[in-house]
Amino acid sequence: MTQRAQAATGTGGLPDHLRRPVRGMRDWLPPQFYALRRMEELLSRVAESFGYRRVETPVVEHFEVLARRAGREIVGEIYYFKDRAGRELGLRFDMTVPIARAISYNLTIPRPVRWYYFSRVYRYDEPQHGRYREFHQFGVELVGSSSPRADAEVLGVLAESLRAVGVPDFVVRINDRKMVDKMLESMGVREYREAIYRALDKKHKLPREDVVKIMTSSGVEPSKAEAIYDAAVEMPLQEAVESIIKRAGAELYNFYCKLLKYLDSASGLDKFVFDMSIVRGLDYYTGMVFEVFAGNYKLAIGGGGRYDSLLELYSGISMPALGFALGVERLMEALGVQGIEKPPDYYIYIFDDGAYSLAAAIARRMRASGSDVVIELGDKTLREALEYALRLGVRYMVIIGRRELERGVVRVKDLGKREEVERPVTEFLGKEA
Ligand code: HAM
Repeated sequence: MTQRAQAATGTGGLPDHLRRPVRGMRDWLPPQFYALRRMEELLSRVAESFGYRRVETPVVEHFEVLARRAGREIVGEIYYFKDRAGRELGLRFDMTVPIARAISYNLTIPRPVRWYYFSRVYRYDEPQHGRYREFHQFGVELVGSSSPRADAEVLGVLAESLRAVGVPDFVVRINDRKMVDKMLESMGVREYREAIYRALDKKHKLPREDVVKIMTSSGVEPSKAEAIYDAAVEMPLQEAVESIIKRAGAELYNFYCKLLKYLDSASGLDKFVFDMSIVRGLDYYTGMVFEVFAGNYKLAIGGGGRYDSLLELYSGISMPALGFALGVERLMEALGVQGIEKPPDYYIYIFDDGAYSLAAAIARRMRASGSDVVIELGDKTLREALEYALRLGVRYMVIIGRRELERGVVRVKDLGKREEVERPVTEFLGKEA
């Protein structure tokens, strides 16, 4: 039976659900994988151009390290298990935590540390469009500086990364947890912080009454809950600095005045807005937080912020830090990225087993000069091999026949143009001939 006929019948074997990846995960077949790799190349280039260096850590972490500052929502999403020795382990849900752990025992690394990653992370989330249980994050972490220049730099890398992969219409929504906390304090509702954060986070997703209800049902007075809701408006960053941030005190105001100045020089202000509803789910954030949206794509394609106390929690040494991560699958969906076909360049067909050594010599030579070359395994007739090569998208078929060989030539078929020419064998062998 031919391969196509088998594919059409395909009965027997594993049941369908076992042929598919585990729920929330996906297989990266070559075209999708090459598209992913292209993203990796473009994004890595941006991070490197800002002086960031690539880092990788184990997928498996101590559960205790993961759980420390994740926050209730994310802790519930950690893949948790015990190994045979009874160690409590988990799969990393992001790269910020493993990087903080790695720096905590590598204290001689010169600071600030500029690292970036393109790595797989795991969350036991409810799978749906844009929500997976295994996905990739590209991100940077800048550890060891509290300067507003660090914030401007990270936001600059973020903007450059999005431009590099071709997201023209992105917006970065910025908020500051310190500022929100100051506001809650001045309203006398600091003790309801957790519920208020949860409510603010839902501002773009739920109607007003429901958001207000999240606050009131945990004890916030209705008038205050409404005031918080109404204060959480979006506005240009400069306007926020001169109003809402200024009211939160001189320290924050000075920080943001400088940040604005640096950000304006580093990448311009037009892609950044202030949005008090951005509070983020992760518990480790301490100051500036932000989320990134692209065009009409509903979900955040990225997020980040300052986590000035996470490293101290792990290393005992104060190290202010910040970073961002982009969700690569979401980014690709927002961009409508298609798979990239990457067929081999040449397919060598020989009629006679005696010509195999010549085929191998030709292939060696071509591969050394950068071409991707396949040699027929001997299972197919020329017609079958041609059909197969066309399906793969191969550009050239090199046919080595006995009669041609006697004349010292091979046939080269351009499968795109459907033309065929004869070429001297020596042309393919160069010095080896
Ligand atoms: P995060 O917002 O949890 O932040 O994740 C970053 C991005 O990963 C999200 O904006 C989203 O695009 C993507 N993402 C999250 N969950 C899923 C999912 N289930 N399926 C597909 N994509 C998803 C962090 O992880 C922080 N570590 C970012 C950061 C770096 N903060 C400071 N440094």
